[in-house]
Amino acid sequence: MSLILVTGGAGYIGSHMLRLLLEQGREAVVFDNLSTGSRERLPSGVEFVEGDLRSPEDVEKLFSRYRFGAVLHFAASIVVPESVAQPLKYYENNVWGSVNLLQHCLKHGTRKFIFSSTAAVYGQPEEMPVSEDAPLRPENPYGRSKLMVEKLLGDCAAAGQLDYLALRYFNVSGAHASAEIGQSLHEATHLIPNILKAACGDIPALNIFGDDYPTRDGTCIRDYIHVTDLARAHLLALDALDKGSRNTSINLGSGSGYSVREMAAAAEKVTGRKIPLKITGRRPGDPAELVASYAKAQELLGWQPESGLEEIISSAWKWQQKKPRDEA
Ligand code: UFG
Repeated sequence: MSLILVTGGAGYIGSHMLRLLLEQGREAVVFDNLSTGSRERLPSGVEFVEGDLRSPEDVEKLFSRYRFGAVLHFAASIVVPESVAQPLKYYENNVWGSVNLLQHCLKHGTRKFIFSSTAAVYGQPEEMPVSEDAPLRPENPYGRSKLMVEKLLGDCAAAGQLDYLALRYFNVSGAHASAEIGQSLHEATHLIPNILKAACGDIPALNIFGDDYPTRDGTCIRDYIHVTDLARAHLLALDALDKGSRNTSINLGSGSGYSVREMAAAAEKVTGRKIPLKITGRRPGDPAELVASYAKAQELLGWQPESGLEEIISSAWKWQQKKPRDEA
């Protein structure tokens, strides 16, 4: 069984992936610059190389030390509003970092590549649920940077240089069953961590970014997928590459959409706490509604989500209540 490179393995999704890989007896090496990740998230015994994907020297050092059979490329900047404010950070980290990684994959004969893409490549789709052949019109630099990498993977695959699957994540959320790892709470921008902070009184209220969208209650609708379900899809994607399903993009979502208000109400039920709400203005770059069709994932990967909204929120709540020292 071949060695797997996990870029961004010290991050939220990467660290869940690592636990699953180790459970399956797979061998992995983590490469991370620790800009948002942390060593504490790494499971014991996993090999870790600190370095930056934008540095050809760092990446060359990594590839000359190990021989990788496949790459799971999680490392990226991922905050939509930050990408609107600092676009070049996103093109540099996400696009240039990926080009540099791919150059070394090709040079060192690593030909299997699983890419963390995003629902943000669709912008605001006209039809819901959104399938992979919907028009690609990202509305923010984050989405555009991820789409650029999908395109360059497509070009490398067409040139016969590698095989890839680009997995378009919807709203990844929830925490590991052990409650040892979860979504960062420190300076959280994502909805569920902020809802749970409001439930605990860590922030006075949940800011709702706009209640005048053309949705059932005026707040944005998203598709929340449990991080463990998402990680499982990557294992299946690695197998699918071996079996011949390759060089395409696949949605990973639950197929169900919930509005911001519905999420707060669901969290009130799970936590038994009141969640104060405060309506503020719209956040730039937010589409009104994004819900996945996961039919292609079912067909090509044999994947379907196993955890529903209650499990997503309750696992996140369990993690949040542990309040890790550096995360609270
Ligand atoms: N929201 C609030 N208040 C908050 C935080 C978020 O109202 O305090 C709203 C947002 O405006 C949005 C929804 O809750 O409508 C979800 O926001 P998140 O920040 O949790 O997630 P996004 O939908 O903006 O983005 C996430 C990932 C992206 C991915 C996208 C795909 O961060 O990487 O899902 O759906 F592209």
